[in-house]
Amino acid sequence: MSDVFPVSEQWAETSRCDKAKYRAMYERSVKDPDGFWAEMAERLDWMRKPTRIKNTSFEGDVRIRWYEDGELNVCYNCVDRHLEKRGDQVAIIWEADDPNIDRKITYRELHEKVCKLANVLKAQGVKKGDRVTIYLPMIPEAAYAMLACARIGAIHSVVFGGFSPDSLADRINDAQSKLVITCDGGVRGGRAVPLKENADKALEKCPADVKILMFRHTGLDVPMKKGRDIDAGPLMKEASADCPPERMNAEDPLFILYTSGSTGKPKGVLHTSGGYLVYAALTHEYVFDYKDGDIYWCTADVGWVTGHSYILYGPLANGATTLMFEGIPTYPSITRFWDVIDKHKVTIFYTAPTAIRSLMQKGDEPVKKSSRKSLRLLGSVGEPINPEVWKWYHRVVGDSRCPIVDTWWQTETGGILISALPGAIDLKPGSATLPFFGVQPALVDNDGKILEGPAEGNLVMVDSWPGQMRTVYGDHERFVQTYFSTFKGYYFTGDGARRDEDGYYWITGRVDDVINVSGHRLGTAEVESALVAHPAVAEAAVVGYPHDIKGQGIFCYVTLQADIEPSEDLRKELVAWVRKEIGPIASPDVIQWAPGLPKTRSGKIMRRILRKIAANEFDNLGDTSTLADPAVVDELIENRKSL
Ligand code: WTA
Repeated sequence: MSDVFPVSEQWAETSRCDKAKYRAMYERSVKDPDGFWAEMAERLDWMRKPTRIKNTSFEGDVRIRWYEDGELNVCYNCVDRHLEKRGDQVAIIWEADDPNIDRKITYRELHEKVCKLANVLKAQGVKKGDRVTIYLPMIPEAAYAMLACARIGAIHSVVFGGFSPDSLADRINDAQSKLVITCDGGVRGGRAVPLKENADKALEKCPADVKILMFRHTGLDVPMKKGRDIDAGPLMKEASADCPPERMNAEDPLFILYTSGSTGKPKGVLHTSGGYLVYAALTHEYVFDYKDGDIYWCTADVGWVTGHSYILYGPLANGATTLMFEGIPTYPSITRFWDVIDKHKVTIFYTAPTAIRSLMQKGDEPVKKSSRKSLRLLGSVGEPINPEVWKWYHRVVGDSRCPIVDTWWQTETGGILISALPGAIDLKPGSATLPFFGVQPALVDNDGKILEGPAEGNLVMVDSWPGQMRTVYGDHERFVQTYFSTFKGYYFTGDGARRDEDGYYWITGRVDDVINVSGHRLGTAEVESALVAHPAVAEAAVVGYPHDIKGQGIFCYVTLQADIEPSEDLRKELVAWVRKEIGPIASPDVIQWAPGLPKTRSGKIMRRILRKIAANEFDNLGDTSTLADPAVVDELIENRKSL
């Protein structure tokens, strides 16, 4: 039996949703999706109210449409409509990397900045439907840029600032962006991030007509290329603050966000306007029990989907005050998170297990130095949270007072699908608990047969929800293949899960070749491609292995070219090489030299075995009889033991 942390009386009374209401709303959402979601859409301001609500099919070529005859503007919903009531309310609290610097941006100021930037974009020729790549650190300009795109109907593609020039170039080219918005440089944990320099390098691999719009942030002296690089500062000063929001169809694209899959290059996940915003806003309000007066802080980066849905779009659509943090949890010291919470009186705090684990390692003392009295709710996202870590987060960070919502979702899902609602669902440490309104999870075995009752299997979704991705940008066939072909008629998440006797879901992790490193999603194939691109490498196989802080670490088996000798220098060189090719988030943790890799007679690498060896589990390797050369396994085990 697992521990249960029941909903407290106070939470049941004061929160937006108690047990009975959750049950009733959930029932209705799945029995009458049209009625339910029509009503939920009323939370937005529509230029034309939708009358056709749900039009979705997971069969054939998979068409997903929500609110398809509705018209709205996402930026208007996140900014303009709040002006009358909340013009002077803080929309964004910006906390810089440097603890002495912060800024508060009201809805009125946000409106002005976004309109100006929208006009700057227009003057650069950006039109409705054009793609704009955003390569910025966690500064308010990132929010302005996303919202400005939404305002004029341009599709933004935010690329995380930790990605390399090559990764950036791939994403610019795939989206065929003609404009990249960046800044001179970023700073994280006191260390400079050379964003403009990276963008310059990326553009060497892009068409000649791609331009750079650059904000000044760190004041770094960077070369500007004539006719290509534009300084945003003077243009912003001159631009008019009047820019009417574009009328958009609910199914017009809002953004592309690249994410890793088990094969090939990262996919451009495409989200549209109406359904996405309804879903992001509704989940933000219910899962976090957001109320006027809350100070809400999600520690993600806007380069990831969590930043899109739960720093920006969901909170701003709800007229919230959202905190945006430029830095890292350990700078200038390991008390930074708690200091920021006390400084800004944060009431809702949403972070990732990897951050919690790294802080938990330093004990209770640093946390206890802070008050954290303002906190009332904690959240977790990105990877499974181990029950011990959950309990520490609850007891030490939340002083046993704050419920924890463990929110399970994906870039593809647009918003949270499985999570507790704090006043309505009893908590079990380590379980994401129950589905959100309208979400119908199921477990299937490897043959696609639905499993009933308590069971463990592959996690699928039986039907659509408004925040679901609509396609892979430019490659609908890949969308159908990736998500709807493994189990016919269902959306396959790529995750495994267990369901207990109370119907609670326990996510067990990816069942495909995607790994989750510090909450960052990576395809093992991407790291393999990077390694093989090095002239010394003949072959590489990459797997995840259990890592105390990161959740999973990156373990690389590398076979060198025949004439190359392994050495410590080469090992270091390969680590640096992968960092350069993909970015620091893909730094290998372990490189093990492999004279050979375990392959079937048809030449397929048996990753199952490699995962076990990486995890130091040498017994129970399973059936190795189909291997072309079973002896390589013994050799790999010997090498692993001596690492
Ligand atoms: C994992 C991040 C367990 C999962 C929002 C999923 C989780 C992948 C949780 C998506 C959670 C996310 N518990 N696992 N609460 N949240 N995951 O696209 O494996 O970066 O498939 O989206 O993260 O990662 P992505």
